[in-house]
Amino acid sequence: MLSIVTLISGRGSNFEAIVKIAQKERWPVKFTGVIANHSAAQGLDFARSQGIPTFVIEHRDHVTRESFDAALIAQIDKLGADLVVLAGFMRILTPHFIRHFEGRLMNIHPALLPAFPGLHTHERALEAGIKEHGATVHFVTEGVDEGPIICQASVPVLEGDDAGSLAARVLAAEHQIYPRAVKWFLDGRLRIEGNQVKLQPPESQLFKL
Ligand code: GRF
Repeated sequence: MLSIVTLISGRGSNFEAIVKIAQKERWPVKFTGVIANHSAAQGLDFARSQGIPTFVIEHRDHVTRESFDAALIAQIDKLGADLVVLAGFMRILTPHFIRHFEGRLMNIHPALLPAFPGLHTHERALEAGIKEHGATVHFVTEGVDEGPIICQASVPVLEGDDAGSLAARVLAAEHQIYPRAVKWFLDGRLRIEGNQVKLQPPESQLFKL
């Protein structure tokens, strides 16, 4: 049975969506741990309610990013992760960390990358006046919000949207695509070829929601 370790910093709703679908569809997977970088991350409560082991590695206890990441790597390796899922983990990871988990480290970003990397994506999307926004699941490489794209979901930007309403529409889409991407990985259907992710057998990697 494959093992997933999830890293969170906050609400953890993507993590929750993945766990719930895994339970409903009876995926042969074990959620071996959830790690947060501070104890107030609300997603820890859901993990505890499901009997999933939780760990807090306070980034503030570490003077350098390298030492924080070394502690994370040690914990994740101890848990034996086949896949590391970043679900709203708000720390920039070192190249060493990223290389260590290369090809088995996924992230979700609330925009249609490469548009709007970084923070405040919904505000920036509204400012730019775009008519379609969305979310991207990707393998993590060394650049921030870069890396081979596994799948994307697009949602319309509607008349009268504010950052809150747009964020809610995108989040609902995130909850649909992140579990799909994780399942594709677990089923061995993803091949990274350069900056492309090929899905075998092929199926649309774009969801219009
Ligand atoms: C999501 O919007 C995700 O795309 C971004 O951080 C947010 C995390 O939300 N990386 P949650 O903690 O999964 O509810």
